[in-house]
Amino acid sequence: MDADPYPVWRRLRDEAPLYYNEKFDFYALSRFDDVEAGLSDWRTYRSGRGSVLEFIRASLEAKLEMPPGLILFEDPPAHTVHRGILSRVFTPKKMLALEAKVREFCVRSLDPLVGAGRFDFVGDLGAPMPMRTIGYLLGIPEDDQESIRAGIDRGLRLTGDAPDPAPRMSDGAQYAEYIDWRARNPSDDLMTELLTTEFEDETGTIRTLTTAEILVYVNLLAAAGNETTTRLIGWAGTVLAENPDQRAELAAHPTLIPNAVEELLRYEAPAPAHARYVARDVSHHGQPVPEGSVIVFLVGSGNRDERRYLDPDRFDIHRDVGRHLTFGYGIHHCLGAALARLEGRVALEEVLRRFPTWEVDWPGAARARTSVVRGWESLPVITG
Ligand code: HEM
Repeated sequence: MDADPYPVWRRLRDEAPLYYNEKFDFYALSRFDDVEAGLSDWRTYRSGRGSVLEFIRASLEAKLEMPPGLILFEDPPAHTVHRGILSRVFTPKKMLALEAKVREFCVRSLDPLVGAGRFDFVGDLGAPMPMRTIGYLLGIPEDDQESIRAGIDRGLRLTGDAPDPAPRMSDGAQYAEYIDWRARNPSDDLMTELLTTEFEDETGTIRTLTTAEILVYVNLLAAAGNETTTRLIGWAGTVLAENPDQRAELAAHPTLIPNAVEELLRYEAPAPAHARYVARDVSHHGQPVPEGSVIVFLVGSGNRDERRYLDPDRFDIHRDVGRHLTFGYGIHHCLGAALARLEGRVALEEVLRRFPTWEVDWPGAARARTSVVRGWESLPVITG
C-alpha cells in the first residue's frame, strides 16, 4: 500500500469523490459521509465475496466459497447468526478482563530494554503483544503463540509486488488440536465457551459448534486482531516521535492516553480500505456504479476529511475525536474494538512510563507489506 496516500486521498475527496480506476476496474469513495453511508448499507454493498479487492476478484473468478462463520466475509442472514454467536462469548467485559495480562506482558517485554538505549516498537512490543492477548483470551499456552502468529502472517503476506489473489487460511491443524484438547480440559477461557455455547442453527436445531466451526472463529479472531493491532502500536512510535510536545504531555499526564489512542486510530488507520461487491445499480455524485462492480471504501481518507474534522492532518491528543471510521461501520463494525483500544492504551502507558522520549532510527525502519494493513514491519527507536 502507498507509503503516504494522504495527498492522493485529498485530491480524490476534492476532485473525484467517486473515483473509477480503469486499470484495476474498481470504484472508490473517499469522503467521510460516503464511506459511512456505504458501510451502513449492507444490502447494496456486500461482504459475502470478501472485503479486500484481490479476494473479491479471486472469489468471483474461481467461485471460491468462504467457510461459514468467517463473519468478515458474510452477509445477513448468515452474518447475523454467526456474529450473534461470537458476540455472545466475545464480550467487551471479557476483553477488559484481559488488562492485567496485557500489562504483565508489556512489563515483561519492556523492563529488560530499559538502559539498552534502543528497542523496536514493532518487533519488541507491537508484533508479539496482540497474539499473546488473543492467546490469553483463547487459553492457548504461551509457548505456542508465536508459531501460530507466524502461520497467520504467512497467510497475509504478499510476495514481491504481485498480490497473491488466493484467500488463504493459516494452517489450522494446531488450533484443531487445541480445540479437541480444550474440550477434554474445560477452563474459563473463550475457547471453552465457544465449545459449550448453544445456539439455533439455520435448520432450527439447538446445538453446539463443531470443531471445524470453532476453528473458523479462532482463525478469524487471530487474523483480524493481530496485524491491525501490531500496526497501531507501530504508528504510536512514529506519530509520537513526530510530536514530542504531545508525547511529553502524555508521559506527564497518562489520563490523556485513551483520547490519544482514539486520535491515533483516526489519524493513522491500520486497515485503511475495505472493499465491497455492489449488488445493485447505484450512483454517487452523479456517476453510475453498475451492479457487479467492486467498490472500495477509503476509511483512512474519510478520517482525514476536512468536511468532517477541523484541520484533519494535524495530530491532536486533545481533539474531540467523536466517531471515526477505523473500526468500520454498520453490521461489520469491529468486534474487537474494545480490546484494540485496551491494548493501545496499556502499551502506551507502559512505554511512556519507561521511555518518555525516543527518536526513530529511520535506516532500520521497514514498512509492512500486506494487502490489508498499512504500517510498520519494524520500527527501531533510540531511547533517551
Ligand atoms: C472487523 C479494524 C482489532 C476482531 C473489523 C473491521 C475493521 C476492523 C475496519 C470491519 C471490516 C469490514 O467492514 O470489512 C480493526 C482495527 C483493529 C482491530 C483497526 C486494531 C487497531 C481487532 C481485534 C479483534 C478484532 C483485537 C479481536 C481479537 C474483529 C472481528 C471483525 C472485525 C471478529 C469482524 C466483524 C464482522 O464482520 O461482523 N475490524 N480491528 N479486531 N474485527 Fe477488528
